[in-house]
Amino acid sequence: MMEVIKKRVQARLSPHRFAHVEGVAKTAVRLAAIHDVDEKRAELSAWLHDYYREDSRESLRRLAEEVGFLIEDQPTPLLHGPLMAARLSLDFGIDDLEVREAIATHTIGDETMGPVAQVLFVADLIEPGRTFASALPVRAVAERDLARAVAMTADATITHLLAAHLPIAKETVALRNRIWKRIDETT
Ligand SMILES: [Fe+2]
Ligand SMILES: [Fe+2]
Repeated sequence: MMEVIKKRVQARLSPHRFAHVEGVAKTAVRLAAIHDVDEKRAELSAWLHDYYREDSRESLRRLAEEVGFLIEDQPTPLLHGPLMAARLSLDFGIDDLEVREAIATHTIGDETMGPVAQVLFVADLIEPGRTFASALPVRAVAERDLARAVAMTADATITHLLAAHLPIAKETVALRNRIWKRIDETT
């Protein structure tokens, strides 16, 4: 099953993006093992998270329409996760709620994200192919403290968006506010 999925992902993405996805899958499995999270779900969500990342807005619109998913005025780079989640059953026959949640939230995060989603959110930032400076400290922290790594990943996302003058999703802000508050209360 996983081999078939890998082949389909490889056929759909550029070599550069496929290498990223491969890195995310390896990192997600590793983080899942360290933090006692379901490795199979982490791996599956990683392989599929960017499946529609390179589609045009027009293509995304058509794919969304087919499953009754509303894209409204959402920016194009934020659509590929929620759309893949909405099409998971149709495209891959997968109905797992944790895998679906992880894929849906991987770009902007969510306050209520579960362990599989947290692993994917962090792995997407720190996979070995990522060279941004913000990934370095998160890589070290992710080895021992998943919650803190999630908060740092949300901060890194926000910092990047601020620098690029791009809109910041309220879900990302809510996630970092909540996790840092919890961490600060317990340390
Ligand atoms: Fe993505
Ligand atoms: Fe990604």
